[in-house]
Amino acid sequence: MNERILQIFLDRPGQFLSGEELSRELGCSRTAIWKHIRNLRDRGYEFEAVSRRGYRMVKTPDRLDVGRLLTCLKTRTLGRSIRLLQQVDSTQNLAHQLVIEGAEEGTLVLAEQQTAGRGRLGRSWHSPFGKGIWMSLILFPQIPLQFTSQLTLLVAVAVCRAIRQNTGVEAGIKWPNDLLVRGRKVCGILLESSGEDERLRHVVAGIGISVNLLPEDFPGELRGKATSLRIESGRELDRTNLIAIILQQLEELYDLYHRVGFAPIRLLWEAGSISLGKPIRIQTREGWVQGVAETIDDFGALALRTDDGQLRKFYSGDVELA
Ligand code: BTN
Repeated sequence: MNERILQIFLDRPGQFLSGEELSRELGCSRTAIWKHIRNLRDRGYEFEAVSRRGYRMVKTPDRLDVGRLLTCLKTRTLGRSIRLLQQVDSTQNLAHQLVIEGAEEGTLVLAEQQTAGRGRLGRSWHSPFGKGIWMSLILFPQIPLQFTSQLTLLVAVAVCRAIRQNTGVEAGIKWPNDLLVRGRKVCGILLESSGEDERLRHVVAGIGISVNLLPEDFPGELRGKATSLRIESGRELDRTNLIAIILQQLEELYDLYHRVGFAPIRLLWEAGSISLGKPIRIQTREGWVQGVAETIDDFGALALRTDDGQLRKFYSGDVELA
């Protein structure tokens, strides 16, 4: 019932709704309506109450809210089951645990804060309370193990498109899956998987987006290297809406991928890439290698034309624009 009242207010922004109208529409007493509104207030929604006109929702909370997320979602499978925590060590850990417990495809783990968020290559991920999207999505893709990196690129494309669509911020993809704005990182993606008999068994796609962080929210070592969507767009953003759009983009691309394969995803990745055609350097175990990023192959590897004219492929590593 709480979610139904919420949906009515969300559908009629700025409009007053009387207790009588609401009780008629929902088939319950005015006292029940009053209790539900009190409940929504406890969850951080703010209402203006004016006698003889009723209630008007004036502010939605800056907290993630499963009920509201479910009402915003347009997906069939992804995000249909959600676990939201105020604090967790890493959403990745909880997602892996849920897989063991039999979680279904599309289960989403979200947290307001991570105390041990992790990034690629053993790095940590800064995840302060209430400022970002720290999420892990459970998938069971029906593909051979060697194509796992295609999924990593797919996730990067989906998040990049969602950010552009929802915020207007022109994020670009740096191989393999960092999203950058004006050369600064705004989102990181971490895919962790398990396999059996050469096939993928499960994937936990971890997505970290610095949404509403202000410059002072970044620790010293990230200043100048990281940015947030708020800094880039000049406004505070609604994380719930953005999550809904990310899941929608992900589901569309994931379905497309299962139907026709990697080719269209690769084209979209190339269109969003800020590294292709550019002089870059890539850090490998043997040190830095310099050249021009030419293409990505079917395994998501980056083909680099090195300064001595060779075409070399890299399957992992850290890229810097030269
Ligand atoms: C990277 O760029 O190094 C990847 C960063 C991935 C961070 C996300 S936040 C949600 C999920 N939980 C984690 O512990 N990590 C990922």
